[in-house]
Amino acid sequence: MRDFLTRLPKAELHLHIEGSLEPELMFALAERNRVRLPFASVEEARDAYDFSDLQSFLDLYYQGMSVLHTVEDFYDLAMDYFRRAHAEGVVHVEMHFDPQAHQVRGIELPVVMEGLALARRHAERELGLSSALIMAFLRDQDAAAAMSLLDEAAPYWEMLDAVGLDSAERGNPPSKFVEVFERAARLGIPRVAHAGEEGPAAYIREALDLLDVCRIDHGVRCLEDPDLVARLRDEGMVLTVCPLSNVRLKVVERIEEHPLPQLLEAGLRVTLNSDDPAYFGGGVLDNYLACQRAFDWDEATFIQIAGTAIEAAFVSQRRRLALR
Ligand code: ADE
Ligand code: ZN
Repeated sequence: MRDFLTRLPKAELHLHIEGSLEPELMFALAERNRVRLPFASVEEARDAYDFSDLQSFLDLYYQGMSVLHTVEDFYDLAMDYFRRAHAEGVVHVEMHFDPQAHQVRGIELPVVMEGLALARRHAERELGLSSALIMAFLRDQDAAAAMSLLDEAAPYWEMLDAVGLDSAERGNPPSKFVEVFERAARLGIPRVAHAGEEGPAAYIREALDLLDVCRIDHGVRCLEDPDLVARLRDEGMVLTVCPLSNVRLKVVERIEEHPLPQLLEAGLRVTLNSDDPAYFGGGVLDNYLACQRAFDWDEATFIQIAGTAIEAAFVSQRRRLALR
């Protein structure tokens, strides 16, 4: 089954590129940029990746990315990830990135955009791996900051495949960002949002009703609201589920208790993704393998899940045919 799952062409729809920063590269970049890290070694960093919830992870995630300063750093970050993903049989990666988390450190948007764009072109050419860009707004910042970012990103609107909403979910409902998402819609930029990871099912409803999203990131708490489940099914809404992330952030206690089988049983369009692979114990293939071990799914189930991801990706019809 490992061979089959490796060879299966997989699209990843939910990845935070800053969450792909492995401790080895973090240490190399810390040295290059003379940044002091709170860990003495790679092992010590990995040992610290023991989270009690989303916020305890976010604290380390924002600290980790403090080593990213230059165009070359963002290029190395993304290229490192693309190589690993390619080795796992990933053919397409849609990556969230968090400009606000860089701007507060004095790293401006053009630096981030240039580094990521170079890596994307290189990956396409050298690995045949395509990618999409999702510019995320930090929901624990105010809506005005998100609006400023969208304005500032004007030179890059054409490069954005979507905008997204991430960071601390509890207490930061989608309704806070209605105007920003309406503006993105008027600009013709597709929208996605994290909802129902730690937050309630009501946030998933808000993301659909108020932000007009075309995918829900996570969404696992929809099961608390049977009417919502029926709606997600009827609308063919895609959920970008991240099982290893949910275990590491204690959304569920054990992978065997993950609601993925119920989501599939309910007829929902689920996909499997890594979220922040450097922090949560593995990439896309590891997420597929963990589900295989926990749920003993057959090949047809994985073909269905991988097919859903390719159908739901922000890629042209021509590229979609080539991926299959
Ligand atoms: N930013 C990076 N990873 C995240 C996650 N799992 N949820 C919300 N925001 C994030
Ligand atoms: Zn995420």
